Amino acid sequence: MRVFVAESEQAAGRWVADAVRDRAVRGPQVVLGLPTGRTPVPLYAAMRDDAARGRLPLAALRTFNLDEYVGLGRGDAGSFRTEMDTTLFGPLRLSDAQIDFLDGRAADLAAECARYEAAIAEAGGMDLIVLGIGRNGHIAFNEPGASLQARTHVETLTESSRAASVAAFGGRLDAVPTTAVTIGMGTILGARSVVLVAAGASKADVIRGMVTGAVTTWLPASFLQLHTDVTVVADRAAAEGLPPEAWQPLA
Ligand code: GLP
Repeated sequence: MRVFVAESEQAAGRWVADAVRDRAVRGPQVVLGLPTGRTPVPLYAAMRDDAARGRLPLAALRTFNLDEYVGLGRGDAGSFRTEMDTTLFGPLRLSDAQIDFLDGRAADLAAECARYEAAIAEAGGMDLIVLGIGRNGHIAFNEPGASLQARTHVETLTESSRAASVAAFGGRLDAVPTTAVTIGMGTILGARSVVLVAAGASKADVIRGMVTGAVTTWLPASFLQLHTDVTVVADRAAAEGLPPEAWQPLA
C-alpha cells in the first residue's frame, strides 16, 4: 500500500485523473470503478478538463459506479446516478453503452445485484477502482460491522453515513435513504488496481487505522491491506495521523 500526501485536493484529483488517462491512452478500453461524494469532485473536474483539451480518449472509458441508494435512480434528486450524470457522464458525453450503474429502483434488488456482478465480470473486471472513504471507514457502502459481504448486495446505512449524506437531501435526515445497493468487499478487491482518495481532518482517524492498524471488519477500508496494488492519495489533514515513515509526498 503506497501512501502519497498531496498539497491540495486539486493536486490529488489531478494525480488520479492522470492515472485514469494513462490507462485510457493504453486502450483499447479501461474499466473504471467510480465513487461519488465530495472527495472525487476535483478528480471529475480534472477529467472534464482533460476531455475539453482532447487529452482523454473518451471512447475507451467503461464505467461502473460503487453504489446507489435503494429507491433512487437516474433522474432522481439525491441519487448517485444523477450526481454522476451532472458531474461526469453528461460533460464527457459518455454513451449509455459505456455506463453501468446499480438501479436503486429495481423491483428485485437481489437480481439487480447479481446482474451487476455479471456485468463487471463480462467487462473483464475493473482495471482501476477509485474509492473515497467514509468517516467511519466504509468503502463504497460497505459499513463497519461484525461481518462484511463479498459481492454486490443491499446494505443498511449507519446513522453516521446517513448524517454525512444529508446535504444532498435538503438537510433533512429523514429524507436520506436507510439502505443502499453497493459493490462488496470481494468486488473491490477483485479490481486490478485500487486508488483511495481522502481529504479533510474527518478522515484522519480511519486513514491511520487503514494504513497502520489491523485488518478488521470494523474498519472495512483496512481490507485494502490484502490487495497488492493500492495507492492512497490523501491531503495533509487526512494524513495527519500517519507516522512519517508511512507516507511520501506526492511528486
Ligand atoms: C459515501 C459513498 C462513498 C464515499 C463516502 C465518502 O458514503 N458511498 O463511496 O467514499 O461517502 O464521501 P465524501 O467523499 O463526500 O466524504
